Amino acid sequence: MYSDRPDFRPLGLPDLQQRKRSGPVLACVTAYEASIAARADEAGVDLVLVGDSLGMVVQGHANTLAVTMDAMTYHSSCVARGLRRALLVADLPFMAYRDVPTAFANAARLVAEGGATMVKLEGADWVCEVIAALVSREIPVCAHLGLTPQSVHRLGGYRVQGRDEAAAQRLREDARRVQDAGAGLLVLECVPAALAATITRELSIPVIGIGAGPHCDGQILVMHDLLGITPGKRPRFSKDFLAGTGSVLAAITAYVEAVRTGSFPGAEHSY
Ligand code: KIV
Repeated sequence: MYSDRPDFRPLGLPDLQQRKRSGPVLACVTAYEASIAARADEAGVDLVLVGDSLGMVVQGHANTLAVTMDAMTYHSSCVARGLRRALLVADLPFMAYRDVPTAFANAARLVAEGGATMVKLEGADWVCEVIAALVSREIPVCAHLGLTPQSVHRLGGYRVQGRDEAAAQRLREDARRVQDAGAGLLVLECVPAALAATITRELSIPVIGIGAGPHCDGQILVMHDLLGITPGKRPRFSKDFLAGTGSVLAAITAYVEAVRTGSFPGAEHSY
């Protein structure tokens, strides 16, 4: 007996790897609390991310930079209690992985206290050293490239990345670097669909897209976008799945179905 929760059979990294090889496409969402996480799990979502987007959609900030490790750990532990099957990934927030010792302490907290299977961090360059260090200590890492919200001030806003030839080439190299450093998964945010398709083909790890077109190994949406409750202008890549369904469960189920059948994202959601 290896578990005190016999109903708890989460997907593991080998399952995600298998899905890259033989499908179906991975359907992923963000969640921040137990009840919505349980509905996502029930709807057949494969991976739930406790994103630092919680700074915007839950806490009402203009960006993700104010999110703390205490908040991430708290919301991750709430989500963990709602899941039975979906793999749980939690974001390391801004400055929580600024050097290897800090990353060790914070990533271990998300796994031990927050119940995460994997932690996500943004960028390549110096971040590759952190990825390699965490993976060498048995903490699986999801990388995040393209539009990296923690770099909002350097990027000058939330813009599509990799549009010109040089930027596209850099993104392809960064993707290769984070994979070589040991990342087990890559989130690609807001990049042209053709570039995302190339990177997905070139990598051996699963690539999860958001605003990255239909040819990734998986798709992820922020739950508040999926339910049409994000205040302000809806991003082009999102879709309100609650409109036309009747409940949160029906909306998430419709999203999972749309991702698996390839009807979402369409050209109108891509760049
Ligand atoms: O924080 C978040 O919700 C994310 C997703 C947009 C992928 O990183």
